Amino acid sequence: MTPRGRILAGLVSVVGLCALAAGAHAVDTNAKGNGSYPLQAEGQMPPRQAWSFHGPLGGFDQEQLQRGFKVYHDVCSTCHSLNLVAFRDLADAGGPGFSEAQVKALAATYQVEDGPNDSGQMFKRPGRPSDHFPPPFPNPEAAKAVFGAAPPDMSDLAKARSFPRPFPLFIFDAFTEYQEQGPDYIVAILNGFTHPDDPNWNEYFPGHHIAMPKPLNDGQVQYTDGAPQTVQQYSRDVAAFLYWAAEPKLDERKALGFRVVIFLIVFAVLLYFTKKRIWSGVTGH
Ligand code: HEC
Repeated sequence: MTPRGRILAGLVSVVGLCALAAGAHAVDTNAKGNGSYPLQAEGQMPPRQAWSFHGPLGGFDQEQLQRGFKVYHDVCSTCHSLNLVAFRDLADAGGPGFSEAQVKALAATYQVEDGPNDSGQMFKRPGRPSDHFPPPFPNPEAAKAVFGAAPPDMSDLAKARSFPRPFPLFIFDAFTEYQEQGPDYIVAILNGFTHPDDPNWNEYFPGHHIAMPKPLNDGQVQYTDGAPQTVQQYSRDVAAFLYWAAEPKLDERKALGFRVVIFLIVFAVLLYFTKKRIWSGVTGH
């Protein structure tokens, strides 16, 4: 290839990569649907957090998931349901890693609706590991009547919420595989009650008026592993837990992706040598 040809090829690949990044961004924001808010237009973009599960090799931090579950259990679950998660999921590999016995004991502390019985009545019984977390309100309308807005179900909240990032950030995002807008948003909301005279003012909630009263304060949840008992720590832990709830197979998916990439590299090398061998007779090299 001539030097000019090389420069041209280089330019073409740079333009191609940028187009790819822009395309990925477009797909990304479209997929978020109504979870996407024009936050940066108002000048408050949730700060980016460092997560153990970031990047192609990242995975969940089991202790963080256990603490995050405690925050959800002690605080958020009074208002937010977690409909898609079953108690036994908490014992799955790649999750908080509770033992079967712990899950059984936890499930038994809940009252779950079952039935109908022989006389056609619904009844309550202690939960079993296969039950899903029962909702704190019988229906969203009942919660709305109390708060003025229904607390959203948390099963996929950490994936359903996002925000567009302006140029050129979204190009870098495509290369750095930034996918944690959801947990970043949750951390921001929990730390966003910054107007002491207006308890419903939130720096990061679209429109700034949130129906949720500030849920977390320093020292509110007792940790047993020595982690700091601060709002910042609680919010990061619960956001990590909610990310796991929204994508429980993340560890497995990333491990598989890594193996596929290794396979493709080895395969490409093999193909290269095969090609060289087959063509050696034709081209004389
Ligand atoms: C006292 C009830 C209550 C508690 C406790 C509570 N929330 Fe909320 N939460 C709400 C309500 C109500 C809304 C809906 C706010 C709105 O739409 O204005 C909400 C909304 C939210 C949102 C914004 C969702 C969106 O639509 O973008 C997040 C994030 C959130 N809660 C996280 C949490 C976390 C994490 C906890 C536990 C640490 C928690 N909440 C505890 C009542 C509560």
